This record gives sequence, C-alpha cells and structure tokens, in this order.
Amino acid sequence: GTATRPRHFLDLKDFSGEDLRAVLTSAAAMKGRRRKGEIAAERPLTGKMLAMVFDRPSTRTRVSFDVAMRELGGETLMLTGSEMQLGRGETVGDTARVLSRYVDAIMIRILDHDTMLELADFAEVPVINALTKVSHPCQIMADVLTFEEHRGPIQGRTIAWSGDANNVLASWVHAAARFDFTLNIAAPLELSAPPSLLAWARAEGARINVTTDAFEAVDGADAVVTDCWVSMGDDDEHYRHNLLSPYQVNAKLMAAAKTDAIFMHCLPAHRGEEVTAEIMDGPRSVVFDEAENRLHAQKGILAWCLGA
Ligand code: CP
Ligand code: NVA
Repeated sequence: GTATRPRHFLDLKDFSGEDLRAVLTSAAAMKGRRRKGEIAAERPLTGKMLAMVFDRPSTRTRVSFDVAMRELGGETLMLTGSEMQLGRGETVGDTARVLSRYVDAIMIRILDHDTMLELADFAEVPVINALTKVSHPCQIMADVLTFEEHRGPIQGRTIAWSGDANNVLASWVHAAARFDFTLNIAAPLELSAPPSLLAWARAEGARINVTTDAFEAVDGADAVVTDCWVSMGDDDEHYRHNLLSPYQVNAKLMAAAKTDAIFMHCLPAHRGEEVTAEIMDGPRSVVFDEAENRLHAQKGILAWCLGA
C-alpha cells in the first residue's frame, strides 16, 4: 500500500462540513459553466481513467458518473462484478491492487459495505462509494444541492423522511450532522434506523428526531423525502409493503408539511407505493432536478478525489 491514504469518497461522515461544502460549491460552479456552454474549455481530468464496478443495477449513478467523467476530459471503464474474477473468488484486496495499476480512481456499487471498505483499504487510488446496503453518499450530495437550489441554505432547515430507514436515509443522517439541519425520521419500528447510526448522530450533536408517526415527522418540514419500500437485496417484499403503507407520501401527508415543502426521492420510484402519482408528478416534486444534480455532484466528487 501507499504511505498516504488516497482521497476516497466512502461516506459523508468521514468529511468535515467545510470539505463537503467545498465539493458542492465546485459542483455548482461546474453546473453554471455547463449551462453557459463553457464545458468545452473545462477538461481538468484529461488523461484520467475511472473504473466503474457495478455489482448491482443502476441507471442514474452509472450514466451520471460516465457523463461527468467524460465532460471533465476523462474516460471510463464499465465493469460488472459477475464478469470479473472477483465473481469467481479473487479477493477484493487483490482486485483493488490490480485495478490500482491501471486506473486513476475506482467507483463501486456493491451491497456489502465491508467489501467496499476493504477495496478502499487495499486500493492505491481513490475509491468512491456508489451505493452499498449501508449508505449512498453521492446521492445525498446531489440532494443537498437540489434542496438549496429550491429553498436556499439547508442549515437550520427541517427535512422529513417517511419510509424505510435504509441506505439513503443513513446518508441523510450523516448529512444532517455535517450540513447542520434537523432531520425528522418516521419509520416503522421493524425498519427503523440502526441504533449505531443514531448513536453516532447524537455524539456528533446532530438534530435527529425519530418517530413511528409520519404526520409528526413532516410537521414543520421544508422537504419530505422517501425511497422505495424494497431496496436492492431486500427479499421480504410482502412484509415490507404491509409495514410501510402508513408512510406513503400522498396529498394528505404533504398537506401536513410546510406549505412550500418540496418532495424528494432518489429514484427509481414506485407510484402508488411509497409515493402517489399526484405527488411524484406534481408541482412540489423536484425528483428530476435531483436526478440531474447527480451529474453535477459527481463532477465535484471526482474533481475532489482526483485533486483537480
Ligand atoms: N438514485 C440512484 O442511485 O439511482 P440508480 O440506482 O439508477 O443509480
Ligand atoms: N434504497 C435503494 C436506492 C436505490 C438507488 C436501494 O438500495 O435499492
């Protein structure tokens, strides 16, 4: 291994609020220049190669990282876990060391969080967490950018989560500590946030309120956020639908939030399950801005990891 640890992007909790803010500021600046058609002149990652390892499906993460890397002048390699020797038992450590000899950074989507961390421990180039069962940091960078575009600074504001306390929620918890906003979490007891995550947040002084009542959580909220009821790797579909139906984001729940509250969802969404079509496709929904902002956030993350 190398003496200094590469500039990994593994979890929001690993960073100071100032560092995350700097990544968002650079993302927003690149977004502004792209809108003005100035991207042709902006190639800070020329000659850099990103390996993208997907052990699970993806639309947004895959396309946004690929386009981000290309627009910044770099190139990408798409790798599927099952098509690598990793899928035949080559160790993650050996995989990390080999890939580090070829590429400048590795992005990985894999359910097992410890495998992602092990890859980072052995890699001699930056590793980016593109979703594990535990967290989804890149998504929440795009989400904070999106919230602020619509509602101004997130510091001191209130975000409400209604649904499964999953990987996306975990990164919202990390963000609440680092960006200094209040996070109200409504989830069924059986699908509540891990105690260790909440203990971490409390120790960091984050303002996290936990309830089983969706209406209590959205009271005073500037944004109402949810995610699918069945995440990748979840097989207990019927059980989850029964538990999560009271957490559906619908017109009645949105009416209990602030009158100008926005609706957020990382996508893919399931109309009629975690959100009604009325809210998903209605005027308060910013879900496609979130999807777009994955591209801009990835640029900020890539530029930070690669020191550009
Ligand atoms: N939100 C998100 O990560 O979407 P994909 O699974 O399509 O990448
Ligand atoms: N919670 C979802 C997010 C998908 C982007 C999942 O893990 O499948």
